[in-house]
Amino acid sequence: MEVIISTTPDEAGRLAADAISGLVRRRPEAVLGVATGSSPLIIYNELGRRVAQGSLSLANARAFLLDEYVGLPADHPQRYRNVIRGEFVDKVDIDPAQVFGPDGLAADLASACEAYERAIADAGGIDLQILGIGTDGHIAFNEPGSSLASRTRIKTLTSQTRSDNARFFGGNVEVVPQHCLTQGIGTILQARHILLVASGRGKAEAVHQLAEGPVSAMWPATALQLHPHVTVLLDTAAASRLQLASYYIGTYQGKPSWQGF
Ligand code: GLP
Repeated sequence: MEVIISTTPDEAGRLAADAISGLVRRRPEAVLGVATGSSPLIIYNELGRRVAQGSLSLANARAFLLDEYVGLPADHPQRYRNVIRGEFVDKVDIDPAQVFGPDGLAADLASACEAYERAIADAGGIDLQILGIGTDGHIAFNEPGSSLASRTRIKTLTSQTRSDNARFFGGNVEVVPQHCLTQGIGTILQARHILLVASGRGKAEAVHQLAEGPVSAMWPATALQLHPHVTVLLDTAAASRLQLASYYIGTYQGKPSWQGF
């Protein structure tokens, strides 16, 4: 796991966009895993800037969402398919028909989850997965207690996550859905490169556990320690609980230029 502590959000966004640009140059039809939440916005904005400038094209890329609320109407602004359209798809030149998400409105949710797993596999798997992290250490919507081998399935959100996400629902926790569909931890671990971005002191404990805690379903993000290629991009506040912060900083400063991401 490579931990990079950036001093500005712009720098973190640039580094993530560099990794994505490099991938798409090598493989224009790359499969991206996209996350909702406020953390990845710095990445999507930078990708949008590069596409507008003409230095990047995602025209042949495909994208898969991590998760979706169950039961939000198709036109609800917080339905993750709509969120990702506004925050990512509309800013770049990806074909909207090549952006997929689990179907939180399916009559048969279990079959929708199986179909989603098949769609990811049929696309050849995810080349680069963008991830945020919840304050309780969840990734996608894999709440504490999730199986570290889990696949796409229905989950019940914790009250902590519902209250964290209430800000997107006019501050009213009561209207935040209780259920979601989410890629499992086992699904996420199959992505070839995972790029996790976190900022702010509220994430500091989860980030400490992610990088330095024992692997445990109580902090689902710790499963990423089992993956061979994870890049963690942090601001100084999110990095403030790391025991090895000065080691990570020195390692990054001394990183050979040929190494890349
Ligand atoms: C939601 C999403 C996660 C995201 C988390 C943190 O729960 N399902 O994918 O990582 O929020 O969001 P934020 O980046 O806004 O803190």
